[in-house]
Amino acid sequence: MILDTDLTGLHCPDPLRHAFAAKTSAHAGRSALGHFEPEDAQRQWNSIMEQEASPQMRLAYFHIPFCRTHCSYCGFFQNASKVDAIEKYVGYLEREIELTGKGTYVQSQPINAVYFGGGTPTDLTADQIRRLGKAIKAHLNVADDVEMTFESRFNGLDDDKIAAAIEVGFNRVSLGLQTFDTFIRRKMSRIDTKEFLLERLDHLCAQGNVSTVVDLIYGLPYQTVDHWLEDINLISNQTASHGVDLYQLVMMGFTRMAQQVEKGSMPAPGDTAFKATLFKLGVENMIANGWDRLSISHWGRKSADGRILERNIYNHQTKAGSEIIPFGCGGGGKVNGHSVMLHRNLEPYYAMIDAGKKPMMAMMHVDPELATNRALGAAFDLGRLNFNTFDTAAGADISRHCMPLFEAWQKNGLAELDEHNLNLTLAGQFWNVTMNQALNNYLDRYPFEDVAA
Ligand SMILES: C[S@@+](CC[C@H](N)C(=O)[O-])C[C@H]1O[C@@H](n2cnc3c(N)ncnc32)[C@H](O)[C@@H]1O
Ligand code: SF4
Repeated sequence: MILDTDLTGLHCPDPLRHAFAAKTSAHAGRSALGHFEPEDAQRQWNSIMEQEASPQMRLAYFHIPFCRTHCSYCGFFQNASKVDAIEKYVGYLEREIELTGKGTYVQSQPINAVYFGGGTPTDLTADQIRRLGKAIKAHLNVADDVEMTFESRFNGLDDDKIAAAIEVGFNRVSLGLQTFDTFIRRKMSRIDTKEFLLERLDHLCAQGNVSTVVDLIYGLPYQTVDHWLEDINLISNQTASHGVDLYQLVMMGFTRMAQQVEKGSMPAPGDTAFKATLFKLGVENMIANGWDRLSISHWGRKSADGRILERNIYNHQTKAGSEIIPFGCGGGGKVNGHSVMLHRNLEPYYAMIDAGKKPMMAMMHVDPELATNRALGAAFDLGRLNFNTFDTAAGADISRHCMPLFEAWQKNGLAELDEHNLNLTLAGQFWNVTMNQALNNYLDRYPFEDVAA
């Protein structure tokens, strides 16, 4: 079998920097699945809600589609924050929680991780955070040891909001820090200074039972190796943060940053080879600073008094394709194997809740490769594919079927094979999303027939 280099990567002296062309999306995916017509989608949703759910890890996502500012690199902005608009939205979200909570499917198994994202939940008031937290406790079946994440910007996350979030059960705050460098931050419309960020992190880390996690981005315009090493040094040694995500900048064509670069009013961000260098330095320096690696891009460490607060449940389980019950305008999830998108525009979202319906925009048919994709999503997030786990999930001998690609990756310096596992090398870790996608494409081109099934 001769495999194309879009699957295997190039055989070259420096696979970390040059095995593939640039990363173009944040997640691997299979070709688009067919979707239900709107009325059928509603019927399908209602019928799922009448069933008992099977026991498995499950998550709930709540989308807050408002931001006060539009950060230039970000493709997640939906609506400008306005006091009245947010108040109206919170009332509808409470109603959606109550409505959804009536489903047997929702009640029959506990929710292991709750995630408030956006947009930004930061633009909720303390009172609105309390109301939503209470609605969740009143109407949903939340596990006793649930991980509850409040995703936030630094700007506007005042002491009252933090206290309200903790009061209603949030035990994890995930902050978009991106970089400490004040100049670069301001170029991206992130106005707060390095000193302010350090002061807020001190306050958050002193909250006892709350895991404080920050996102850092590498490959930003203006960012040098020194900036990147300083970011890692500061988060490691000047804060008590419990978790860190190191994300590669994905330049999305429709963002303001992309337009500024196009016009020449902002320097182009580092190319893929430079990002690969920053990735390598990131891994080396996180290890040198004593962080534990929880996944390829996520790092954790114990709190000052020796407790493990950072569990990274939600982020890893979304990669592993776990069930996610979605809430809120623009929220997305996975229910009984069906991908679900809720309305992205506020008016239809409100109208459907007024009509007593789940405010769905689209529901997809169950992916016939769901089990395979779930196993691969989990494995590529962690950087190791165990053959036994893969075969159990996706069909006896599927690992052997994929072996020609695994061997090509080994030859090209992207992975190492042992008797039981495919282990990604540092180069493979950098290209993990591309490799996951390449394996999806391989399985499309060379379908696996599970003779045992
Ligand atoms: C959905 S955003 C929401 C963050 C939060 N609203 C805030 O303002 O910090 C979550 C994270 O995605 C990451 N992100 C956003 N745009 C990105 C991009 N273009 N490339 C890489 N990471 C990005 C950032 O690290 C960000 O903190
Ligand atoms: S980074 Fe956060 S606050 Fe900024 S535009 Fe994106 S979602 Fe909104």
